Amino acid sequence: MLKLNSMPELSSMLELIEKTRDGVALNPVDVERLIHGIATDAFPDYQVAAWLMAAYCNGLSDSEVYALTDAVAKSGSQVTEPLGLVDKHSTGGVGDKTTLIVAPLVTSLGIPLAKMSGRGLGHTGGTLDKLESIPGFRVALSREQIAMQVQQIGLAVVAQTEELAPADKKMYALRDVTGTVDSIPLIAISIMSKKLASGAPNLVLDVKVGNGAFMQSVKRARELAKMMVRIGAYHGRHVRALLTRMDQPLGYAVGNAIEINEARQCLQGGGPADLREEVIALASQMVSMGLDISLEDAQVKVENALYQGMAWRKFEKWIEAQGGDVSAIQQDLPLAPTQKEWVATEDATVVSINTQAIGQVALELGAGRHQLQDPVDPGVGLTCFAKSGAILKKGELIATVYARSQAEAQRAIQQLQQAIVMDETGRRDEGLQSVVMELIASDEART
Ligand code: URA
Repeated sequence: MLKLNSMPELSSMLELIEKTRDGVALNPVDVERLIHGIATDAFPDYQVAAWLMAAYCNGLSDSEVYALTDAVAKSGSQVTEPLGLVDKHSTGGVGDKTTLIVAPLVTSLGIPLAKMSGRGLGHTGGTLDKLESIPGFRVALSREQIAMQVQQIGLAVVAQTEELAPADKKMYALRDVTGTVDSIPLIAISIMSKKLASGAPNLVLDVKVGNGAFMQSVKRARELAKMMVRIGAYHGRHVRALLTRMDQPLGYAVGNAIEINEARQCLQGGGPADLREEVIALASQMVSMGLDISLEDAQVKVENALYQGMAWRKFEKWIEAQGGDVSAIQQDLPLAPTQKEWVATEDATVVSINTQAIGQVALELGAGRHQLQDPVDPGVGLTCFAKSGAILKKGELIATVYARSQAEAQRAIQQLQQAIVMDETGRRDEGLQSVVMELIASDEART
C-alpha cells in the first residue's frame, strides 16, 4: 500500500499544516515552499485545504501575512514598470459601479490609471460584466495594447490575466468550497498580492461594511482595512482605505446595462446622492495621492472635473478606445423588455434592507453568475429607490424590475418585498446617513 507521508511533497506540506494548526509561525522558507507548492500543483488540494482551514481557525501573524502576500504576488508575472500612478480596489458589493465613474474622473485630472477588474460572482456584480454591456467594448487587451492606450488617453480597465498571482486563484477556488473565504488574513493576502503584482505605487481601498459585504461589522472591516494598509506599507506602497456602507445597494441600479446608465447620470453631474458622495470621496483620495496635494485641494479638482464635464468626456474617449460604441452611451442602454413596478400602498419608513438578498434577486434575473463561466444577461436588473431610514409616501415607486418574462419579474418583486422591511406605523424620516464611514491610512493602521 502507498504510504502517503513517505512522498517528499506530502510530508513537506504536512509539516506546514501541523505548524499552522499548532499556532507555530511559518518562517520565510516555509512560506516560499508553501506558495511554490500551491502554484506548481506539487501539493494536493486536500492538503492545501487543510492548511487553509488551519490558517482560518488560528489566524496568521503579521510577518507571515507580509511574506505570504509577497510570495503569492511573485507566483505569477509582475508588473515591473507600472503604467498607472494610482489604483483602486473594492471588496465588493451590490450596485457598486464606482470604478466606471472614478476611473475616468481621476484620469481626466492627468493621473494615469491601468486597472485590472473582475467579473461578478454570487450576489456581487463585476465591473467587466457592466462594461461588456456596452456594444463592442473589449476587456481582453495585451500588455502592449494596455500600454499604448494608457499613453494615449491615460486609462485602461481590463480583465485580470491568467498570469496574475496564480497561487491566489488556486487558493481562492479552494477557499470557496471549504468555508474559508471569510478570513481577514486570507482576504488581505488575496487582495494585496494581486495589487502588489499589478504595480501602482498608490492604492485606495474601498472596504465595504454591512449585510451586502464580506465584512458585516465595522470592527472586522476596520481590522481588514488596517491589515491591507500595513501590507502595502511593508512593501513600499502608499495605501489608504475607506470604510463604506453596504447595508443597502449603492445608488439605485443593480445589474449591468442599468448600472452603466446610472454611471452616465453620475458622470454628467447627477445620479443618486450616495453614489456621488462615494465617488467624490474615493476619487479625492486617489487624486490627493496621485498629485501629492491636500485632500481639500483634491476634492475641489474632483468636483470641477465631475460637474464641468471633463470626467464624462474622458469616459467617452475610454469607451471608444476599448472598442465600445460611443453613440450607444449617449442615451440609456436598452433594458430587458418586461418591466414591473412596486409602489408604496401606504406612507412607510424603510426599516432595513437585506442587501445580499437584493444582489441575489439581480443574480436570479440573469444579471450575475453562480460559476465563473456562466453567461450574464446585460439587460436584466432592478432599481431600488428605498434607502434605510427614509419615508416613502403612498404611491411612491419603491423598486422597478427588468426581466425576461412576466413570471421572473413577478418572482423578483416578491423577493424584493421580503428583502426590504417597511414600517407603516408612522416613524419619522431619519434622513440619509453618510455612505463613507472612516478613513484608514498608515498612521491608524499601526494600532
Ligand atoms: N476579493 C479577493 O480578491 N479575494 C478575497 O479573498 C476576497 C475578495
